[in-house]
Amino acid sequence: MTGNAVCISGAPPHASLLARLHYSCFDEGERWGEEAFSGLLTTPGTLAWIALVGETPAGLLMLRHSLDEAEILTLGVNAQYRRQNLASSLLDTGYTALRKLGVTTLFLEVSVRNKAAIALYLKQGFTLCGRRKTYYADGSDASVLRYDLTSVTR
Ligand SMILES: CC(C)(COP(=O)(O)OP(=O)(O)OC[C@H]1O[C@@H](n2cnc3c(N)ncnc32)[C@H](O)[C@@H]1OP(=O)(O)O)[C@@H](O)C(=O)NCCC(=O)NCCS
Repeated sequence: MTGNAVCISGAPPHASLLARLHYSCFDEGERWGEEAFSGLLTTPGTLAWIALVGETPAGLLMLRHSLDEAEILTLGVNAQYRRQNLASSLLDTGYTALRKLGVTTLFLEVSVRNKAAIALYLKQGFTLCGRRKTYYADGSDASVLRYDLTSVTR
């Protein structure tokens, strides 16, 4: 558990920083560039946070919401800072913001091969609600998970 991680909101001027952070969290072929972040950060309904350890950006979360639903666009933590509760802190920050906006359900897609992420989401209280066949470029299926923002108050 990291005692000194702080989650700050991401805004359009953070596109370059978010792209560098994303690069440090994901493997080749899964990384998003600055343009992608610029586009998303100026799209209505998109929310982003950066987890700082001291002054070091160590993780990111990006969500998109519409009416009472939202989806996780990306969540990643730099390998050096994993298993220190950063992803959990980012998600908690996201849940709070979404509840304030009246969002009731949060969805995400994750590769069935991504055991770390699946373990994280199940621990958080997400439940499996579907599967998309050969969803990813490597041919893997995606599990679709949902989180009921009205039933838990964490
Ligand atoms: C998945 C990821 C975001 C988790 O970030 P994190 O900051 O390490 O997660 P947390 O420390 O908040 O983990 C909370 C819980 O999730 C589970 N968990 C997280 N990583 C795990 C792993 N590698 N193996 C097993 N369980 C794991 C554990 O239950 C953990 O609690 P514990 O440490 O007390 O056992 C991180 O591994 C990552 O960035 N991976 C690459 C990018 C990615 O796959 N993103 C998700 C795309 S949907």
